[in-house]
Amino acid sequence: MMRPGLAVVMDSTPAAWSQADDYLADLLVGHDPALEAALAAQREAGLPAIEVAPVAGKLLHLLVRLSGARRVLEIGTLGGYSTIWLARAVGDGGRVVTIEAEERNAAVARASIDAAGVGDRVDIRIGRGADVLPTLVGGFDVVFIDADKESNTVYLDWAARLGRPGTLVVLDNIGRDGEILREDTQDTKVIGTREGLRMLGEDPRFDATALQTVGVKGWDGVALALVV
Ligand code: DHB
Ligand code: MG
Repeated sequence: MMRPGLAVVMDSTPAAWSQADDYLADLLVGHDPALEAALAAQREAGLPAIEVAPVAGKLLHLLVRLSGARRVLEIGTLGGYSTIWLARAVGDGGRVVTIEAEERNAAVARASIDAAGVGDRVDIRIGRGADVLPTLVGGFDVVFIDADKESNTVYLDWAARLGRPGTLVVLDNIGRDGEILREDTQDTKVIGTREGLRMLGEDPRFDATALQTVGVKGWDGVALALVV
């Protein structure tokens, strides 16, 4: 019997995707004080609520563990929510380098990452990706790209250069509520998303696929690429 007030929505609508996502996160992610504190700090500081969904954060975490990665590069720290998932996955002695263009975001992230107990593994580099990436030493096992979509091709190029054969590249936000279908779009984020996907299909350095998702972030998804 349903409790009064708990409406079950079964049509495939954004509200239902979100409810089902919450249900899955309850079961598979559960209560996580450090991650919840990171989100609260991010909301308090007025950062946009565009961090990865809980089940997607856990997917990143599991991908890093499955690949045995010890060195992870993240482009786009925001408030550090995904960074904490990644840092937990690299384990003791592992390293996450994360790039954030906004100093204010980086300060929020630093505090949350330290409070989560993984601060010693996380190196936050403040600056635009295009400026910071050329200063990094390569050899990353996993690269997670989740920054300004306009620069996706620049970030993918650096992911290939700073990776090695076998590196896993994850590119966030490949669905954008279906806007990727608009060939004549003027939305620079959608243009950047489409250009990134085209590069993943054409550039011989990558072998890639994409996974669409629905959930708390609407209709979106990730591309997964192997550096060959
Ligand atoms: C936006 C960026 C993201 O990384 C995301 O996951 C969702 C939305 C955006 O800039 O619109
Ligand atoms: Mg994103």
